[in-house]
Amino acid sequence: ERASSSLYRFPLLPVRGIPLMNHIANSWDTIWAFRPDPSDILIATYPKAGTTWTQEIVDLLLHNGDADACKRAPTPARSPFLEIVSPPPIPSGIDLMKNMDPPRIIKTHLPFQLLPPAFWENKCKTIYVARNAKDNIVSYYHFDCMNKTQPEPGPWEGYISKFMRGELAWGSWYDHVKGYWKEREKRNILYLFYEDMKENPRREVERIMKYLDLSLSDEVISRIVELTSFEIMKENPMANYSCIPTHVFDNSVSPFMRKGQVGDWRNHFTPEQSKMFAEDYDKKMKDVNIPFRSLI
Ligand code: A3P
Repeated sequence: ERASSSLYRFPLLPVRGIPLMNHIANSWDTIWAFRPDPSDILIATYPKAGTTWTQEIVDLLLHNGDADACKRAPTPARSPFLEIVSPPPIPSGIDLMKNMDPPRIIKTHLPFQLLPPAFWENKCKTIYVARNAKDNIVSYYHFDCMNKTQPEPGPWEGYISKFMRGELAWGSWYDHVKGYWKEREKRNILYLFYEDMKENPRREVERIMKYLDLSLSDEVISRIVELTSFEIMKENPMANYSCIPTHVFDNSVSPFMRKGQVGDWRNHFTPEQSKMFAEDYDKKMKDVNIPFRSLI
């Protein structure tokens, strides 16, 4: 099976201490050398923090809320995934970009220190989205169960330990959110929170619009808020990842557009796990004051 198909659960290999899927680690020189155009827009996240949602918002903003224009292709073909070099099902980001005119909406999960330096040399606009740790890990767990190219998640209890030790693909959530937070002023990064986007999507869409130096009508902004609601995106074949064949993204295990809620961790953590996680969290996060919500 492995020989007939290039798809399997990729093992992780460290790149400068960060565990990445082996096809990414094996192409590291190409990724590190990537040079974006100064007009390219970067969306950086730890996996499952709201990347796809933000990609849809930015694409609609760049297309003045034109829903049809943003249905020209599925998300990963419209908005290249930087470090996915090979193999399928997600098209190689760097290959895709060769045939796309800037400004491109580039997705990455790379932690700050692994981001190709040309992004900063070219002063690319960068939107970082952070999601509270407990919902983030719950979402990642379900994703690792359904995405047959990600490492085997194993049982939930052990998954929590791996998350806390930074052993999941793309490494430590704690270091990831801190890395971009510490650089946000110097690098002019727009640092957003999933919980803020849920609480008041219009406010956050407007923040993104201003950051991108765009000025759209109130009516268009309202349309974008509507088109990027969880309910609408879940039904949009160009935004819900139904483009990925079911032997790769097994929707019967868990849909890509799963719940889209804040606080689902309460349905997963036992009180003991929650306590243990919170104590470790406080130690790891004590050197920063990132205003996360929904932890208690
Ligand atoms: P859940 O698993 O909690 O449902 P990413 O795009 O970074 O992989 O993140 C995926 C998570 O964002 C999933 O979370 C998914 O349901 C949620 N999501 C996707 N689109 C959304 C939207 N429009 N509104 C709210 N949540 C959304």
